[in-house]
Amino acid sequence: EKGGYDHFMIKEIFEQPRSIADSMRGRLNAAEAQLQLGGLSNYMDKLVAADRIVIVGCGTSWHAGLVAEYLFEELARVNVEVEYASEFRYRNPVIKENDIVIAISQSGETADTLAAIELAKSKGATIFGICNVVGSSIARASHAGAYTHAGPEIGVASTKAFTAQVTVLTLMALAVAKKKGTITDEVFERLLAELDNIPSKVNKVFESATKIKEIAFIFTYAKNFIYLGRGLNFPVALEGALKLKEISYIHAEGYPAAEMKHGPIALIDEDMPVVFLATKDSSYEKIVSNIQEVKARKGRVIAIVTEGDTLIPTMVDFVIEVPDTHEVLTPLLSVIPLQLLSYYIAVMRGRNVDQPRNLAKSVTVE
Ligand code: M6R
Repeated sequence: EKGGYDHFMIKEIFEQPRSIADSMRGRLNAAEAQLQLGGLSNYMDKLVAADRIVIVGCGTSWHAGLVAEYLFEELARVNVEVEYASEFRYRNPVIKENDIVIAISQSGETADTLAAIELAKSKGATIFGICNVVGSSIARASHAGAYTHAGPEIGVASTKAFTAQVTVLTLMALAVAKKKGTITDEVFERLLAELDNIPSKVNKVFESATKIKEIAFIFTYAKNFIYLGRGLNFPVALEGALKLKEISYIHAEGYPAAEMKHGPIALIDEDMPVVFLATKDSSYEKIVSNIQEVKARKGRVIAIVTEGDTLIPTMVDFVIEVPDTHEVLTPLLSVIPLQLLSYYIAVMRGRNVDQPRNLAKSVTVE
């Protein structure tokens, strides 16, 4: 059932062109510039009128929420707060009746996320569920929602569920933006066309798999890793670090690149691998100077760059290219090399990648 692969995780990583396409199928029609999210249509007016959106989730789903924060703010100009479900439920959160809560969960069974939405519901909020498992508890407890069509995810480390979540959240942000008129038709159409191209661009990232395996071999016995990114690539840095931690048991930290000089920079020496998310976007220049700061302290830099970048390869130890896309869609591509890097490192360390120690696929206890 692993379809010829050694592990579910690698099978699921390589399934992403399809799972992303499946999550758009019947919703996105790029040729006709049409976007439809059936599950949301009855609540579209509420979404458009909302003063703020609160997103709740745990782990990788929380990271997808952080990506969505950028998307909704940038495209739909709405205030967004992203909360760990476990923290949200035990505070006394200020929730008003016209608030929208988006719960993100692959399994739809995460206890803290379920409890968070029950709390928000009791205060009158409207709940949207973004779940992968059809008929799951969170899907049933939500007023409305949209399923991710990633297919069953067996590996404990979430991969294709993350990109499917980001895909659906992008569609949602775009639908709201279009309705609100916060983006031009031209940008809307360009983004739909770019989204349509993402599955084939993910396939292009896979062409770097051998190179990533070589890099993994070099860093197999690293004790620590730092992942740095800015803007939309900051949550990707968090996700890369989480993936490495959970399956290889290497200590890893994700950080916003600019925060580095407020503490973590003290960790940098010739033994510290630093993964930079350095794609050509609005923070490119800033990231370039962050890379210089790390190189000046002899850190070993692996940079995820946009295809054709000629500057960063002259500055760093290793580069992995991803195709160019519209800035807001970057996470769908930049996360892929990080999934592969953690997978190969974990395999080389002889870890049980599909079932890491101490972890369960869905955390149904708080
Ligand atoms: O099923 P959920 O999306 O609610 O699960 C949330 C987290 O438990 C999950 O993402 C976890 O962090 C994964 N092991 C990450 O790879």
